[in-house]
Amino acid sequence: MLDRQDRIEKTLNALLPAAELAPARLHAAMRYAVLGGGKRVRPLLAYGAGELSGADPQRVDRAAAAVEMIHAYSLVHDDLPCMDDDVLRRGKPTVHLEFDEATALLVGDSLHSLAFQVISEQSMADNAQHQVEMIEFLARACGSRGMAGGQAIDLEATGKTLAVTELEFMHVHKTGALIRASVALGARCGDAMSQAQFKELDRFGKFIGLAFQVVDDVLDAQSSTATLGKTAGKDAKNNKPTYVSALGLEGARKFAAELRDDALRALDALPQNGGQLRPLADFIVLRRF
Ligand code: IPE
Ligand code: IPE
Ligand code: MG
Ligand code: MG
Ligand code: MG
Repeated sequence: MLDRQDRIEKTLNALLPAAELAPARLHAAMRYAVLGGGKRVRPLLAYGAGELSGADPQRVDRAAAAVEMIHAYSLVHDDLPCMDDDVLRRGKPTVHLEFDEATALLVGDSLHSLAFQVISEQSMADNAQHQVEMIEFLARACGSRGMAGGQAIDLEATGKTLAVTELEFMHVHKTGALIRASVALGARCGDAMSQAQFKELDRFGKFIGLAFQVVDDVLDAQSSTATLGKTAGKDAKNNKPTYVSALGLEGARKFAAELRDDALRALDALPQNGGQLRPLADFIVLRRF
């Protein structure tokens, strides 16, 4: 994991515009939002999936960087006063505080575009159709039927109680979709997987994507600001419906453990028994930050 975290850091550093390049303030803010923080779970999933499909690691670097750029953009916007109104992210002041709100909006816009540029400007797969599919997966995952749509549901649901099925719909969209796409993009960089295996891998992505947000809800309620690098207890303070408010801490933890079992079962049919995706699934569910 450490090797790959180092690899993604270097890749992101190389792909982001230099801070001196005009418009310098925007580029500095983009680099502030992306570099030097975060667990890099989405890139790690892309690398894990890429390995199973025999992908060229340099292609997976770009896929991993693209999903992390979309993720970082979603965090910058999620923290804005008009959304969750947060002051701390990855242990640093949020982008709109360190810079300003308009810059934070533009950081999101720019990272969104750069992500697609990065997976379009070079060959990403031996099969050109697979590269087009990657672009489509990512577009779907971050649009109104994916992350942005999930965020819209989240804002609408604030102050309300959601049924567990509605909560699942929200989480699968706001967080699950991009995680699922991270796995799919990594896999599509290589050609060694059958369509049936790809389907199982996608099932893994779906389960682990939902599990990720369930655990995020648990940690918000249970952990500390110092450990998380973001303000703990914000969901209750903002009156957000979460798996903790719906099922209680124990119930939410138990649900996350069930999703991990489902995710691991989906890996059984894959090359190398799922390889690094197995310990990654454990990390996602058992993590403390
Ligand atoms: C936090 O994501 C926001 C969610 C989608 C739950 P991460 O927990 O992956 O945040 P970083 O990237 O490690 O900071
Ligand atoms: C964030 O969910 C989901 C996206 C950024 C798309 P949260 O609002 O729970 O994320 P944190 O807890 O602020 O990281
Ligand atoms: Mg939010
Ligand atoms: Mg938030
Ligand atoms: Mg949260």
